[in-house]
Amino acid sequence: MKQINDLDHSSAMGNNLNKTDQFAKGITNQQDEPTIPYETKSNQTLEEFWSEQDGEIPRQVTAIVVGAGNRGQHYANFAVDFPSRLKIVGVAEPQKHRRETLQKLHNIPDEHSLDGWSKLAMLDKIADVAIISTQDHMHKDPSIAFANKGYHLLLEKPMAVSETDCELIAEACERNKVMAAIGHVMRYAPPCVKIREIIASGILGEIVTINHHENVLFWHFAHSFVRGNWRNTESSTFSLMAKCCHDIDLIMYWMGDRKCTSVQSFGNVYHFKESQKPEGAASRCLECPVEKDCPYSVQKIYLQGFNDAPMWPMSAVCDIEDHPAGYAVALKEALETGPYGRCVYSCDNDVCDHQMVNMEFDGGATAVMTMNAFTSDMRRETRICGTHGELRWDGSSHQAIRVYLFATEERKEIFPDQVVPPCRTRGHGGADFFLMNAVTKAIAHNDPSLLSSNVIQSLTSHKVVFAAEKSRLEKTVETI
Ligand SMILES: NC(=O)c1ccc[n+]([C@@H]2O[C@H](COP(=O)([O-])OP(=O)(O)OC[C@H]3O[C@@H](n4cnc5c(N)ncnc54)[C@H](O)[C@@H]3O)[C@@H](O)[C@H]2O)c1
Repeated sequence: MKQINDLDHSSAMGNNLNKTDQFAKGITNQQDEPTIPYETKSNQTLEEFWSEQDGEIPRQVTAIVVGAGNRGQHYANFAVDFPSRLKIVGVAEPQKHRRETLQKLHNIPDEHSLDGWSKLAMLDKIADVAIISTQDHMHKDPSIAFANKGYHLLLEKPMAVSETDCELIAEACERNKVMAAIGHVMRYAPPCVKIREIIASGILGEIVTINHHENVLFWHFAHSFVRGNWRNTESSTFSLMAKCCHDIDLIMYWMGDRKCTSVQSFGNVYHFKESQKPEGAASRCLECPVEKDCPYSVQKIYLQGFNDAPMWPMSAVCDIEDHPAGYAVALKEALETGPYGRCVYSCDNDVCDHQMVNMEFDGGATAVMTMNAFTSDMRRETRICGTHGELRWDGSSHQAIRVYLFATEERKEIFPDQVVPPCRTRGHGGADFFLMNAVTKAIAHNDPSLLSSNVIQSLTSHKVVFAAEKSRLEKTVETI
């Protein structure tokens, strides 16, 4: 068994961790702030800095981007910061300005910049890996097509929106012997990696329970899951899948080799529905007489304190290219007429605004996961209890993981020991960067073990999410 001090890098590493910069609303977001290229005092480039930390990789990896929206552009930025590790050589994207932005940034030839994934899939294979970052319901077909062409996949989560489609993707990857890294980025977040290391060290004894909260943040829920892309099961997927496939996967990652054997779930749309609409409220915020008293007003979410910078969440409401008169005008117009200006009580949303999942594992350990829209911050919280000790993590990348050992009554603060370089892809507390780093290394070394999970493990954690949703809908306990 490791000693607790073996795991403690707090004094050495605590000050080295980057403070993840926060966006306008005071929350941590996937994009973080775009950074200027990193230079140390000795004029070291970001890439040189990282090679010194992580070692060189044997060759440059090439990628195509399928869906150049928020996530596709974000992942592709890894190639801007680390050009010797990754080159983007093709893009498929129907929206012209998105496609051209990516094409220009990565100097992609016209013949490899196409307006749909099927055209790119018709060409001979032009890269090592296909980054599949289309919307949830558009993952299956391009994933299978590019796997059949021999591309490795970096496939955004969720793998697909039905269990059968997830199985078909896994089958295509296995049959074609290609790697599939699923966008379960939290597995790569330095504190989550450290928690797994603490558990594996044995200092907590055997893990008996995990209590995990996914706090979505009230206005973030309204933005993405009431008005936005992930509001409706039919057009996207259910909220447990869209938001918490990360959390179920994390719990399974922390439980290690123990199989999840059964799940049960409860949840519903408690608040964001017509029956909760305040008296006199209009169907759009900008013309609503009672908007001032509403926490979900678009005035508060998008317009107050807006400084003309098209950052998330405003960037999801409209693209600046949509309006020649400037971003502020485009934003106002989008709120007057588009989906993000609707009253949260009069939308076509049907996804749960709160949901909990009970899980049982081989040997009798249990876990409870709660997803909640009604929180003041956007942060996960975890408590893991073992037979010899307890661990708590407040979801932050900068705060310590706190451990208490029963036998010695010792309290310890443990920090992750991975340094997050100040690069463009450091979203999710550095997790996005470490996923990209792992993908490029796994391909360059031809070593799938450098990924945190293989396609079968990802499929298994998706199956637990599907089973939990079935339990919620059918009021059953589901055996996996
Ligand atoms: N890993 C994470 O934490 C995380 C975070 C956010 C989103 N996601 C997932 O990433 C995926 C993308 O999300 P996003 O926010 O970038 O969405 P987005 O809507 O910004 O991007 C999707 C892009 O796909 C393009 N597209 C549509 N049809 C296409 C086609 N035929 N060929 C090629 N491209 C096509 C769209 O035009 C759009 O630009 C979703 O599945 C989402 O759930 C994952």
